Amino acid sequence: MSVRPSQRVWNLAPVAHGSISEAELASIGLARSEVIDFSVNANPLGPSPAAVAAAAAAPWSHYPDDAATELRRALAGRDGVDIPEVVVGNGSAELLWLLALAFVDAGETALVVGPTFGEYARATRITGGQVHEHRAAPADDFAVRVPDVVAEVRNTGARVAFVCNPNNPTGTLLAREDLDNLATMLPHGLLIVDEAYRQFVDDPPRTAPLLDRGNVVLVRSLTKDYALPGLRLGYALAPAPVCAALDAVRPPWSVNAVAQAAGLAALRDDAHLQRARAEVRRARTYLATALADRGLRVLPAKANFLLVGVGNGSAVRAALLGQGICVRDCASFGLPGYVRIGLRTVPECERLVAAVDAPDVQHAIGAARG
Ligand SMILES: Cc1ncc(COP(=O)(O)O)c(C=O)c1O
Repeated sequence: MSVRPSQRVWNLAPVAHGSISEAELASIGLARSEVIDFSVNANPLGPSPAAVAAAAAAPWSHYPDDAATELRRALAGRDGVDIPEVVVGNGSAELLWLLALAFVDAGETALVVGPTFGEYARATRITGGQVHEHRAAPADDFAVRVPDVVAEVRNTGARVAFVCNPNNPTGTLLAREDLDNLATMLPHGLLIVDEAYRQFVDDPPRTAPLLDRGNVVLVRSLTKDYALPGLRLGYALAPAPVCAALDAVRPPWSVNAVAQAAGLAALRDDAHLQRARAEVRRARTYLATALADRGLRVLPAKANFLLVGVGNGSAVRAALLGQGICVRDCASFGLPGYVRIGLRTVPECERLVAAVDAPDVQHAIGAARG
């Protein structure tokens, strides 16, 4: 006899993410080492050697510090806030779930500015909340019409609003005033700003002062900028009572000892991050130009990935995989005509451009063009 989960779990749709599974690799007969993975948006230089060494030396034969005090102290110092205003999580994905759990009651509405990362909607639905998506349009290059969002927050009576800034997968960036306007519309709710890709933006808005409003949470990942995706590490900056609420629903020891040690070492190696940022800047210019020269629509990009119109994202992804290149098919974002390409080193981007020129890939692009 099989037991059915609760209705809201039963109704959940799976959320797709980047990368390539072992099963798919086996089906195309390639080893992971034979594929260059542009489908995740992480530091192109990999982790700092200091973080790798710290992870190897980390003690894990006893429980980790559940309060992650040393790591939170380092983050608080870097961002100019007090330690109680920092909470760490098992990746920023965990913090997004905890925010929904702690702040969205059954029947309440969360507004999501889309198309965007799928976990905001999933987390909301798990708690029994309703999702209202405001969707930016391709005709506007996916620029967000903030006055429309502000009106929708008001009209839906949303309890929380999720904004990804810069946005995955469109690469658009809202200014500090835009976020201010949104926060004003949520006097009894929370504006959740996911800044997972902030470190790769050349001139990011200064968002920390928004915390003084009392209803803004800044969620940040440490897995992208410091290339620690397998260790799972993220944090949120928020008023202390918000952090306390997140801690109240956080599973114990969710940030393990190895992740805490590697995170601390990564934070101290700022030179590594700066090198990665410079490489991303070079790769962005090179790749956006090379793809546009080939007649593809490359959306303006503020982060470390490009959204590219290719006609049929799934067919182009499959054709590129045949060349040992993995990109993100954007169908799960409701954008089947696009792929998202994470910026890697310039030589790797040159390999991608050569793959785009391959006859099979040109055929996939050309077939969609008609
Ligand atoms: C916008 C955004 N936020 C959060 C996450 C979660 O990242 P992590 O849990 O590795 O910190 C991702 C991962 O792809 C993302 O794209």
